[in-house]
Amino acid sequence: MKSTTSKHTQNETAPKGVTAKSDAAKGLRDLFEDQLKDIYWAEKELTKAIPKMIKNSTSDELIEALTAHLEETKKHVTRLEEAFTVIGVKAQSKKCEAMAGLVREAEEIMEATQPGVVRDAGIILAGQKVEHYEIATYGTLASFAKILGETKAASLLEKTLNEEKAVDQKLSEISNSINVDAVDEDMEMADTHTKR
Ligand SMILES: [Fe+2]
Ligand SMILES: [Fe+2]
Repeated sequence: MKSTTSKHTQNETAPKGVTAKSDAAKGLRDLFEDQLKDIYWAEKELTKAIPKMIKNSTSDELIEALTAHLEETKKHVTRLEEAFTVIGVKAQSKKCEAMAGLVREAEEIMEATQPGVVRDAGIILAGQKVEHYEIATYGTLASFAKILGETKAASLLEKTLNEEKAVDQKLSEISNSINVDAVDEDMEMADTHTKR
């Protein structure tokens, strides 16, 4: 059975495997660079969005975590610039529609909630969505970098990935305590209400 597609024909005429392989490598490289530009835009956007989240938070622990992560986020921007340098590409940003949407959602949550435990919980929710997007992006980009032989870029991306994972974990811990307090307060209010 010799049913050949155009791809097969191409492989038969070109030096064995070379064309297909370099096409895939080029495609992955393009995708890698494109997504680096996307996350570069996202990180810069976050340096503007996180201060608004800090201003709207009331929990000391949450303010502390977000303030520390704002500093890390500024480092993520410069680390991406380093990654562009090591792969020999000019640092450029491309609007990330997903992050723009997540930031908009955070703003909407802050507008729709009362300051205090509920708004804090909303900020944690929005913050964790952002972190999960970053974790997905950095995890994949670090493995793309390894496949492409860009080991220096891979280790820069992994460094950031670990910081994103750590803050996500921290936000989960804060979320547990905040939710408990919110429930307690609600119950106390309900109790005083029924006692009156
Ligand atoms: Fe980041
Ligand atoms: Fe982050």
